[in-house]
Amino acid sequence: MLTIQDFSKEGLLQILDEAIAFSDGKTAKVQGEVFVANLFFENSTRTKISFEVAERKLGMQVVPFEVEHSSVKKGETLYDTVKTLESIGIDLVVIRHSENEYWKNLQGIDIPIINGGDGTGNHPSQTMLDLLTIYQEFGKFEGLKVGICGDVKHSRVANSAAEALGKLGAEVYFSGPEEWFAGDLKNFRTIDELLPEVDVLMLLRIQHERHSEASAFSVEDYLEKYGLTKAREKRMKPNAIIMHPAPINRGVEIDSDLVECERSRIFKQMKNGVFARMAILNRARKQEPRIKIK
Ligand code: CP
Repeated sequence: MLTIQDFSKEGLLQILDEAIAFSDGKTAKVQGEVFVANLFFENSTRTKISFEVAERKLGMQVVPFEVEHSSVKKGETLYDTVKTLESIGIDLVVIRHSENEYWKNLQGIDIPIINGGDGTGNHPSQTMLDLLTIYQEFGKFEGLKVGICGDVKHSRVANSAAEALGKLGAEVYFSGPEEWFAGDLKNFRTIDELLPEVDVLMLLRIQHERHSEASAFSVEDYLEKYGLTKAREKRMKPNAIIMHPAPINRGVEIDSDLVECERSRIFKQMKNGVFARMAILNRARKQEPRIKIK
């Protein structure tokens, strides 16, 4: 699983079905020994740990790989690193990398690769847990209004979520500073326009590490201009939910007191990360022939 674009609506629903089953208590174990390595060239708490928990729940053998202690630090390329792991007997890798579409350097690798996030490009496993969270709440996607708010331009979460939700029949709108939005403005609204309309408010982290220029506003201004304040939360529809992929800049994208409010599903998303990733891993293991890099 590299991008959401590679999946049809039916393909996404198939993974979602299995994620729902895992969230309902289904268990599964791989046959024989399956060795898996998680290669995180960018920092992570949720994605890395929940992949590891999912792998262990499925009975996979997790082989530790820390970039800092690997031969990457001696200049070994990504291709040579993954080819080495494949040669040693790793059966599946999860990779997070700062380079968009890093897999284009991995032609010739014959083990499944699951994308744990590539630069500003894609974050498909985050999307699957987001879909699971939305489905648990509403039991459908068709006709739902989803507002994706914040640093859209630098967000792989936004790219993958918008692609999947569009395929599944949701209406997707965007909000945030206009200079952080590169899409079609017909789907762009201010947060105050969006709030009373949306069923799902998906807030995004400001990706400071991906910004090359200073913003025209301060971090202190951001919450008041573009973020979810307590006053704005009161204007949301009665059953609307708040999501955020996290990590959260508390008091910036969202008032800190709202992070665990009644309509917040932020920690539910993290819990669902394990179930969604179990479904993704299970699918990758069953795939014959193995995933080929485009
Ligand atoms: N949401 C997400 O990808 O979090 P991590 O960076 O902690 O994995």
